[in-house]
Amino acid sequence: MKIACVGGGPAGLYFAISMKLRDPTHEIEVFERNAPGVTFGWGVVFSDLTVDNINRNDPVSAKAITEEFAHWDDIDVHVHGETITSGGHGFIGIGRKRLLEILQERARELGVVLHFEAECDPADPKWRDYDLVIASDGSNSRFRDAQPEAFGVDVDVRANKFVWLGTSKVFDAFTFAFEETEHGWIWAHAYRFAPDASTFIVECSEYTWESFGFGRMSQDESIAACEDLFAKYLDGHKLQSNASHLVGSAAWLNFKRIKCERWSSGNVILLGDAAHTAHFSIGSGTKLALEDAIKLAEVLNRPALSLEAALDEYQAERNLEVLKLQNSARNSTEWFETLERYTHFEPLQFAYSLLTRSQRISHENLRLRDREWLEGVERWFWKRATDGRSNKTAPPMFAPFRLREMEVMNRVTVSPMAMYSAVDGVPNDFHFVHLGERAIGGAGLIFTEMTCVSPEGRISPGCTGMWNDDHVAAWKRIVDFVHAQSKAKICLQLGHSGAKGSTKLGWEGNDVPLDEGNWPVMAASDVPWSPVNQVPRPMTRAEMDMVRDKFVAAVQMGIECGFDMVELHAAHGYLLAGFISPLQNKRTDEYGGSLENRLRYPLEVFAAMRAAWPKDRPMSVRISATDWAGDDGVTPEEAVLIGEAFAQQGADLIDVSAGQSWAGQQPVYGRMFQTPFSDRIRNEGKLATMAVGNIYEPDHANSILAAGRADLIALARPHLIDPFWTLRAAAQLDYRDVAVPPQYLNGLSQLARNLKREAEMAAALRV
Ligand SMILES: Cc1cc2nc3c(=O)[nH]c(=O)nc-3n(C[C@H](O)[C@H](O)[C@H](O)COP(=O)(O)OP(=O)(O)OC[C@H]3O[C@@H](n4cnc5c(N)ncnc54)[C@H](O)[C@@H]3O)c2cc1C
Ligand SMILES: Cc1cc2nc3c(=O)[nH]c(=O)nc-3n(C[C@H](O)[C@H](O)[C@H](O)COP(=O)(O)O)c2cc1C
Repeated sequence: MKIACVGGGPAGLYFAISMKLRDPTHEIEVFERNAPGVTFGWGVVFSDLTVDNINRNDPVSAKAITEEFAHWDDIDVHVHGETITSGGHGFIGIGRKRLLEILQERARELGVVLHFEAECDPADPKWRDYDLVIASDGSNSRFRDAQPEAFGVDVDVRANKFVWLGTSKVFDAFTFAFEETEHGWIWAHAYRFAPDASTFIVECSEYTWESFGFGRMSQDESIAACEDLFAKYLDGHKLQSNASHLVGSAAWLNFKRIKCERWSSGNVILLGDAAHTAHFSIGSGTKLALEDAIKLAEVLNRPALSLEAALDEYQAERNLEVLKLQNSARNSTEWFETLERYTHFEPLQFAYSLLTRSQRISHENLRLRDREWLEGVERWFWKRATDGRSNKTAPPMFAPFRLREMEVMNRVTVSPMAMYSAVDGVPNDFHFVHLGERAIGGAGLIFTEMTCVSPEGRISPGCTGMWNDDHVAAWKRIVDFVHAQSKAKICLQLGHSGAKGSTKLGWEGNDVPLDEGNWPVMAASDVPWSPVNQVPRPMTRAEMDMVRDKFVAAVQMGIECGFDMVELHAAHGYLLAGFISPLQNKRTDEYGGSLENRLRYPLEVFAAMRAAWPKDRPMSVRISATDWAGDDGVTPEEAVLIGEAFAQQGADLIDVSAGQSWAGQQPVYGRMFQTPFSDRIRNEGKLATMAVGNIYEPDHANSILAAGRADLIALARPHLIDPFWTLRAAAQLDYRDVAVPPQYLNGLSQLARNLKREAEMAAALRV
């Protein structure tokens, strides 16, 4: 094949090498606009896995690259005048210039023709003479931007400003240096890539950048200002720029996240940064470029594969890996963009939050990297959780948590789950066993399902209720069992179904109206849940009084039953969520319109409940932190205000769920997918929160808690099939101080022994 690579960065050069290695008869030319040895940027970091990949692909260039590697293990985080050092991170770095020299030499050796100072124009007809034109022309790719529709280009210009500098100061550790200034926070990411040189990237918010006046400075002035700001880290060394082609403030960039739906069009194929970018803070752009190059060369040389099929395979085989990295990179980018959410953390927790920001590194990963450091974090967590009473080195999920006078023994909760099994709202033996079993399963806090304050407030005929003496008696039996036979606390979740009422049992059809016996439903406005559901009656003020009073009556019954805590369900599109969400609330009175108006009635209900509930016992509210409807619905930003408004009325905990506010929602689903909302509400609103949503491993729970992204962790579906989730986690983490019923003690120690033995055997096999 006759191939042109436009751009002599890592992607273009390494693709040329990888093609030639597979078939030397390919005719390959690389066109680079810069002269040899001229490049923008300094060092790049690699992972061990990338090294394995390039080693397998081309041992010759891999040897030359690895011989030049700078290695380092530690990460130093400087913040608030303290330095937090953790080890075991195993980084490898190389100068970008040196990397390109090695690749250029190897490409030449294999017969690739290199053209320098050759600016390529996508409109030039000469590209038609090539079988393939590899657009490896970087993130500002002209070849991609010449046909944006064909490639389905999606560019997201991120908020922060950064400048990529270098210095002769040699950093022994990968260094993050955070400085608080009169204009806000500014920080550096610095690492050594050669015996005498380090990369030094300075980043800050647009606001800080503007306030410093960087936009009006020449490059030299910017550099001088950064030298001043970071003088204590530079020990007299200078900062330098090699972006002389960028004039003045242009050296400061906003990172562009690039995604393309299709990576090829006609004979043009996008490779590396031209196809996708990953924020520099996770250091994976070069890795992606090299691995793209290997995969493309591999598929193009597969026998009996048409070009079209090969290109489809290339994208299919690379897409998942790229998406995963872009997701992690997005988390990392957002962490730096919302830095001020975390700057009130103590330095140790701040460093933990920084290290786990992309969600690729978890609590147990950190234990593997640096056990001693992680144990220090655990001790710190326990000390705070117990007001200094305990100095334990143990997983955060087992630390106690206090809300008013209620102390839960650990941070795991059984999330509310409707069982659709009550008759006339009365919980029965099923509920007794279901909740009782989960209480002895080790979780610190058990939630009842949404228990409805009136017959018409039920979702389905099978929902539990709290409106008469039969309910009180049945719930009291359950609460008494939980208190007598376990150390768990139990919280009554109270709600009213609103527009989502009068529907079938969950497993007969979610949110589908009954075949017969439907009852009229009411809501904030006459907006039906879906075209097949009833049109609700907009509530009159008298009905609002009546429903509020039913909530209060239910709270009083909850006191009779002995519940430890009450939660108001104001999420998932039910009655109170319907008031909060603009998707359902179309009222023109003082209960509709602005967020303040939409919150007025839910807050009134909450305040009335709070007044009836004992002062020493806590209350929470469950909210949907987003309607997954962009600005048309509740946004995560508003969710902070919603959390704050309930807290002002005496809510001790915000139970942060999301969505289920309209039938057409498209949630962005994944591991711990709702935790970012909890993080935001907790750390912007300075409120206690509970995170829920696809949290299923002890490692998830510990990572979320130690990073200060929530105070409690709720698990719903994992508890459906495993009431003993917490005890199993204790066995897995070899934590013995857990509330196991004495009858089951042998089971826990046996499981712990078996798991430990299995882990040891697996480790021995790996060696
Ligand atoms: C601040 C910062 C720090 C980074 N740190 C890391 C890191 O630590 N680790 C890591 O792996 N990655 C890092 N990256 C990302 C990394 O630099 C890129 O992902 C990687 O270089 C992508 O390789 P590429 O070959 O696709 O593109 P590039 O390296 O951008 O190469 C594109 C080449 O094409 C040339 N070119 C462009 N247009 C034309 C044209 N019309 N005609 C001729 N030539 C053209 C350019 O001159 C350039 O040489 C960082 C990026 C930034 C911005
Ligand atoms: C069967 C079932 C019933 C549920 N019922 C309720 C409920 O009554 N009240 C509530 O607030 N959430 C309810 N939820 C939502 C869960 O509490 C939880 O927020 C959701 O399932 C996400 O957590 P998970 O990924 O751990 O399952 C229910 C979920 C399930 C699976």
